[in-house]
Amino acid sequence: MTVTPDIEVRRPRPDDLPAVVRIEVACFSDPWDAASLSAELREDRMRRPLCALRDGKVVGYLMAWKVTDEWHVINVAVSTGERRSGVGTILLDASLDAAISEGCVTATLEVRVSNAPALAFYEHHGFAAFDRRRRYYRDTGEDALVMIRVLRSGETGTVVDSDSTCP
Ligand SMILES: CC(C)(COP(=O)(O)OP(=O)(O)OC[C@H]1O[C@@H](n2cnc3c(N)ncnc32)[C@H](O)[C@@H]1OP(=O)(O)O)[C@@H](O)C(=O)NCCC(=O)NCCS
Repeated sequence: MTVTPDIEVRRPRPDDLPAVVRIEVACFSDPWDAASLSAELREDRMRRPLCALRDGKVVGYLMAWKVTDEWHVINVAVSTGERRSGVGTILLDASLDAAISEGCVTATLEVRVSNAPALAFYEHHGFAAFDRRRRYYRDTGEDALVMIRVLRSGETGTVVDSDSTCP
């Protein structure tokens, strides 16, 4: 799909699962299990997953749901050694390009209030916090900030009320 000089972005394949599980476990205190990740890696009527590869090796992934005219980013992660080199940006740009081409009006996501790197990343990409879900995360009881980015000016979408979010 998308190819930059170093990074290829494409739909995940079943054999990407072990690498995705490794990145997930390294990134999150309450990682999704392999079965949940496997389900999210399969594109279907709603799911729009992507993975990023450097030299053929998976270095990041992004999972999103298309819910009517809203694009809900449910998980994004980049291997520790690959951070701050633009991989997350390549994934998010590719995902939001797909959202726009599929007619979505807004993109939304939930993020832990303590996840400063992710907050900075999303703010860098034009997301703004508009709501807070109290005690949203089961492992720590932490709140989630709900962030939104308008993809098409002059319109607002229906905000999805989902209990699925990055761990
Ligand atoms: C959030 C995450 C996906 C960002 O991926 P990344 O590839 O490192 O991001 P990029 O290199 O594309 O960063 C783009 C911009 O976002 C901001 N940003 C990203 N990481 C940041 C950090 N740790 N601190 C401050 N700003 C940051 C910066 O503005 C950065 O631009 P710059 O490097 O030119 O200053 C990555 O940190 C990650 O995998 N974190 C662990 C998993 C996670 O928490 N995911 C989010 C779940 S909601």
